[in-house]
This record gives sequence, structure tokens and C-alpha cells, in this order.
Amino acid sequence: MINIIEITAEETAPIRHEVLWPNEPIDFVILPNDAIGRHFGLFLNETLISVVSLFVKHKEVQFRKFATCTEYQGKGYGTLLLNEIMRIVQQEKLSRMWCNARVNKINYYTKFGMRVTHTYFSKKGIDYVVMERKF
Ligand SMILES: CC(C)(COP(=O)(O)OP(=O)(O)OC[C@H]1O[C@@H](n2cnc3c(N)ncnc32)[C@H](O)[C@@H]1OP(=O)(O)O)[C@@H](O)C(=O)NCCC(=O)NCCS
Repeated sequence: MINIIEITAEETAPIRHEVLWPNEPIDFVILPNDAIGRHFGLFLNETLISVVSLFVKHKEVQFRKFATCTEYQGKGYGTLLLNEIMRIVQQEKLSRMWCNARVNKINYYTKFGMRVTHTYFSKKGIDYVVMERKF
């Protein structure tokens, strides 16, 4: 059984850490503004396997720290979670959704109607591009 629900920032930390920055200390995945974010998780039979966090500012929303446990990747769970997030964004009449996408994920996010912008940067050896979808 699959459930997507709002969770706490603390609940996202183990998956963020294991999937995104396993070689950094766990504090590295805690965001200064986590307390004002909304965090969502996909549960498969009561086990949290995919997480994403939303930060709204001026009717625009940034999603951050999107991650699915390694052994569950490529099975469509991330797609379910991102589609649910898109549904919420549209329901709340936000005008733009954006993220700092790892460049190896450009094709993935394109499937969700997101487009690359001209803003590229690197962090800890990983290349990123800002991707966005306007509503
Ligand atoms: C990005 C991420 C969160 C996506 O989550 P996911 O659960 O793997 O997502 P999905 O399974 O829905 O999609 C992943 C791929 O599997 C494919 N897929 C979707 N449903 C599938 C299914 N039922 N069976 C097989 N493959 C499927 C998708 O088309 C997608 O292919 P693509 O990467 O070539 O575009 C996850 O891969 C991840 O945590 N990656 C490492 C961290 C990371 O890069 N995070 C994003 C930073 S910007």
C-alpha cells in the first residue's frame, strides 16, 4: 500500500543523508529554513522510502532534497511523489515551481514539464541547473 503524507523535517533526514550526501555529516542535510518548509513522504507499507521538501516564497515554490531510497529507485515512486507535489502546487495556485536540479536529472524533470533556465552552478563537485515550471 502506498501513502503520501506530510511529515516532519526530522523524518526526512535519514533518507536525505543516505541518498544525497552520504559522505557528509548528517548536519549537512539539515536546512536552516527546514522549520518553515513543508515536508512530504511516500510510505510503502508503512516504510518511508521517498521524501521531498517545499519552500514557498511570494507564490513561488522551491522543492529541495528530493530523494528515494537507493533500493527503491527507478520503480515509479518518485514520480508518484512529484506528481502529488505538482497537484498541491496547482491547487494552492502557486505561480512557479523550481529546483536546483542535479544536471544528471534534467531529462527526468523535463518529463514533469520543467524547463532548464540559464542558471548553472556547482557544489561539492556536483553540477546543478535551476529548472522551473510556470503555472
Ligand atoms: C531523483 C529521484 C528522487 C527520483 O526518484 P525515483 O523513485 O527513482 O523516481 P522514478 O522511479 O519515478 O523515476 C526514476 C526513473 O525510473 C523510471 N521509471 C519510472 N517508473 C518506473 C517503473 N515503474 N519501472 C521502471 N522505471 C520506472 C523513470 O522514467 C525515471 O527514468 P529516468 O531517470 O531515465 O528519467 C531518485 O532517483 C533519487 O533519489 N536519486 C538520487 C538523488 C537525486 O539525484 N535527487 C535529485 C536531486 S536534483
